[in-house]
Amino acid sequence: MKRIGLLTSGGDAPGMNAAIRAVVRTAIYYGIEVFGIERGYAGLIDDTMTQMEMRSVSDIVQRGGTKLRTARCLEMLTEEGQRQAVATLEKHGIEGLVVIGGDGSFRGAKSLTEGFGIPTIGIPGTIDNDLEYTDYTLGFDTAVNTCLDIINKLRDTMTSHERISVVEVMGRHCGDIALYAGITSGAEIIVVPEIAYNMDDIISRINRSRANGKRSNIIVIAEGVMTADAFAKQLQEMTSYSVRATTIGHIQRGGSPTMADRMLAAQFGNKAVHLLKDGIGNRVVGIHKNEIIDMDIIEAVSMKKKFNYELYETLQMISM
Ligand code: F6P
Repeated sequence: MKRIGLLTSGGDAPGMNAAIRAVVRTAIYYGIEVFGIERGYAGLIDDTMTQMEMRSVSDIVQRGGTKLRTARCLEMLTEEGQRQAVATLEKHGIEGLVVIGGDGSFRGAKSLTEGFGIPTIGIPGTIDNDLEYTDYTLGFDTAVNTCLDIINKLRDTMTSHERISVVEVMGRHCGDIALYAGITSGAEIIVVPEIAYNMDDIISRINRSRANGKRSNIIVIAEGVMTADAFAKQLQEMTSYSVRATTIGHIQRGGSPTMADRMLAAQFGNKAVHLLKDGIGNRVVGIHKNEIIDMDIIEAVSMKKKFNYELYETLQMISM
């Protein structure tokens, strides 16, 4: 393979820049040219791309966001959009494509692979950690650490005022950000889409913790359940504690990637280029049991994300 394309698609995630760097530098190491496509599939359809050099990716390993910019592209769901994307690739002699993004972005890659035989490699880049085939997605660790920093601050003020804090985190339909931020911040309760909540049980748990000497409570709620405001309102109506709501929002999507995310980015990017170089396409890369893996893209996107009930039980036992 002599020339490959690279794009970031869907919601950005910390570590995308580090992955771009790893792809570009590995490809150049092997004498493969890389074309950086701007604004995800939209840039592929509109033919907005430039060749990337060693120095195009200097000084980005530590930066959040994505240098290539990103977009959610509805046109890519249509056959016409896909044909246009393929025409752009053919026009530039691009023989393989690396796509950094989440579930939706992988479906775009799958359509290019299935419908048109373009070899694609997916790198999982999303804060949501909602892909079953990989233990972690790029950006998840940084997003959870950002949430932790905010929850630590909330704990200070909530304890001073003996309040309950309801903190909303992202994750779309997946509760992983809430689960991991909850367990590592010492939150007493998490509310996730995977488990139905019962407000009476939540209030009993809070009462027990207060009887045991706790002066504040943190409830981390995943956006896939409801907003922090709506949940706090319900809770406030049923209790005499003082309740406050905080929505972390897009702050958790920005910021310098953690060591864990930079390491994943380096390994995922490197692996993606190795696969294309060896003539292997139609795969996604990931990490499982601390090993970098690759898997058929169609199989990967058809796997249903499982919730980690064991971690949930752990939180129930240790956060009181
Ligand atoms: O998929 C990443 C994510 O941040 C989700 O957690 C969230 O639901 C969504 O993107 C927000 O999307 P947007 O930035 O388009 O509002």
